[in-house]
Amino acid sequence: VGWAENLNIRIENRDNLGERSAVRALIKAAFGGSDEADLVDQLRGSEHSLVSLVAELDGRVVGHILFSRMWIETPAGRISAVALAPVAVRPDRQREGIGSRLIEHGLELLREHGERIVIVAGHPNYYPRFGFLTEKAKFLHSPFPSEAFMAMELSAGALEGIRGSVVYPPAFGI
Ligand SMILES: CC(C)(COP(=O)(O)OP(=O)(O)OC[C@H]1O[C@@H](n2cnc3c(N)ncnc32)[C@H](O)[C@@H]1OP(=O)(O)O)[C@@H](O)C(=O)NCCC(=O)NCCS
Repeated sequence: VGWAENLNIRIENRDNLGERSAVRALIKAAFGGSDEADLVDQLRGSEHSLVSLVAELDGRVVGHILFSRMWIETPAGRISAVALAPVAVRPDRQREGIGSRLIEHGLELLREHGERIVIVAGHPNYYPRFGFLTEKAKFLHSPFPSEAFMAMELSAGALEGIRGSVVYPPAFGI
């Protein structure tokens, strides 16, 4: 990690149409399809979008991450959590630490905003390095395979004693 030294991580400029299309193009390139780019386009302007960051290298957008509001439905009521999805790095700049920088920066902002729980469905080899663990999600019911479903506490003990089903914003179609 560390080749991308002059990398700049910042809040996405939603009003800049050129930036929006650059983000869309990189998400499509990273995932090889438009589902995730469509999801971002739907969530970005919605009340559920919390943090949308871009990674910029020499003035070009090479990475993007979105965090949205989600919930855990428990017998005692709904608990707020945050969904990390999706994160994408332009294929020719992967494995340089850009994805890690986006995730770490996003988690830091969420912590500062008082968020306590973050949930991700994704590669079991990638997310544990940031603190996401399947173990932390074992009492959370979700439609994802348990080995790919992970949670982390931004505040110690935030998931203690919490059992319930996860609820995503409608744009996820889950
Ligand atoms: C997943 C992704 C965001 C990671 O970003 P990145 O900048 O490449 O990742 P980093 O440099 O921070 O971390 C590198 C690690 O990511 C994982 N990784 C990155 N690219 C990978 C690939 N093509 N296949 C498998 N693992 C990969 C590896 O575990 C790698 O660790 P290693 O270098 O120790 O092998 C990026 O590869 C991507 O956009 N992938 C396609 C879209 C996607 O799958 N997004 C995640 C959906 S949950």
